[in-house]
Amino acid sequence: MKKILFATSETHPLIKTGGLADVVGSLPPALKRLEQDVRIVMPNYHDIKNCEPGRYVCTIRVNNSDVNLLETRLPDSDVIVWLVDFPAFFGTPGNPYLDDDGNPWANIGDRFSLFCRIVTEIAMNRAYLDWKPDVVHCNDWQTGLVPALLSLEEHRPATVFTIHNMAYQGVFPSAAFTQLNLPGQLWHPDGLEYHGMLSFIKGGMSYADRITTVSPTYAREIQTPEFGYGLEGLLAYRRDDLSGIINGIDTTVWNPETDGYIPNTYSSKTLDAKVNNKTALQARLGLTVDPDVPLFGLIGRLVEQKGIDLILACLKDMANMPLQFALLGSGDKSIQVKLQDFDRLYPDKISVTIGYDENLAHQIEAGVDIFLMPSRFEPCGLNQMYSQRYGTLPIVRNTGGLADTVVDTLPASIHNKTASGFVFNDASPGALLEAIKRCLVLYAQKPLWRQLQKNAMQKDFSWQSSANQYLTLYREI
Ligand code: ADP
Ligand code: GLC
Repeated sequence: MKKILFATSETHPLIKTGGLADVVGSLPPALKRLEQDVRIVMPNYHDIKNCEPGRYVCTIRVNNSDVNLLETRLPDSDVIVWLVDFPAFFGTPGNPYLDDDGNPWANIGDRFSLFCRIVTEIAMNRAYLDWKPDVVHCNDWQTGLVPALLSLEEHRPATVFTIHNMAYQGVFPSAAFTQLNLPGQLWHPDGLEYHGMLSFIKGGMSYADRITTVSPTYAREIQTPEFGYGLEGLLAYRRDDLSGIINGIDTTVWNPETDGYIPNTYSSKTLDAKVNNKTALQARLGLTVDPDVPLFGLIGRLVEQKGIDLILACLKDMANMPLQFALLGSGDKSIQVKLQDFDRLYPDKISVTIGYDENLAHQIEAGVDIFLMPSRFEPCGLNQMYSQRYGTLPIVRNTGGLADTVVDTLPASIHNKTASGFVFNDASPGALLEAIKRCLVLYAQKPLWRQLQKNAMQKDFSWQSSANQYLTLYREI
């Protein structure tokens, strides 16, 4: 049995801004099912919900600050969650990265530096918990200083650093290095220094024993300049320590047979019932209620990564085609405004909901026929997997985890019953529109469409295989 400490900035259902939370909410329980001793550590944010109030366990002093550790559990599991309680940093309303007005926390470097120091103390069993992990599994830049700080310790646990997204690196002016009182040995180009600045993500990438990312294709892509954001050289240098392990999904939260958020549950054997979710969704969103019109959906952060500009460039053409479109998302203000204009112009055909809404997200997955995910890059992506499980065929761009989890509909894949969606190559509006048209042709062929839905629904996206791959990795180090 391995003792594994999972360090993260978000965990579903306690607090979530994206897929990282989904992963941390489901991978540790999957490892627990493999009889491993896994615990999660994250900041005790003001906005945490859906868990029992944290019980005080101890106070740890780092960098002249007294920080409390509280203990709760991941709901519906026996995974312990330690909450790093420091109200001066985490006690104000907002999400892990932005304040309530949507502005990045001005002291975000201080926040996650403090967090990393506490994780390091727990990892070294200096937090009076009588528990020392064999492996510390860090996620994204917010935890990047942990492998760096641990590299200075004797008898330290092994470290794994998982990159969920190379686009976010935690880079600060060099003065932050001194201000955060970081050990001088870490300041060099093979350490935390990045072109004269302090880079948190480099802490993970330079010092962790193993680096993983969340799909095999993204693991290859980030070794190239297009996806590596200047760190491709370091990743190529460390390629023997780098691997891609595809994310699983929480098959109890995302299950069309039991989903409590959707009006009508269904399975691959009762697919006729799916249409009731479609008409209910059309009614809820003010679209023309029509069981036959192909209904497209999209849920996601409205940022460049997700290829929303491609959608915007296609929306006028889409509005002139026999289809409807339902979008749920939030993010970039200028993207939000442009999308809302289309909603106003075509209220019966296009629905845009700005905001974060889990209930509606489930209803869209169950209610739409086709899910759009034209991402410019996508480390893994979860919605294309949720979609397939809900018999909602995804249209995805050929990148990252999208390429690894969707099988394009072609004569051969139709024949061997593996086709489960539509894949296009170019990040251009023309290529997206082409894929939409190709999809509409097949949507009109009902028996074939039904078979594609079944192919998609029968795929195994559970954590079983990937959790075993992480376990193998933990054992190797
Ligand atoms: P990323 O982590 O890059 O945002 P993923 O596809 O891995 O992308 O995960 C996104 C997760 O966040 C999914 O569970 C998705 O359903 C959810 N999500 C994103 N935006 C919203 C929203 N506006 N409302 C509800 N859920 C959302
Ligand atoms: C990131 C990526 C997304 C991935 C998620 C969970 O936010 O953008 O592709 O699915 O992390 O690993």
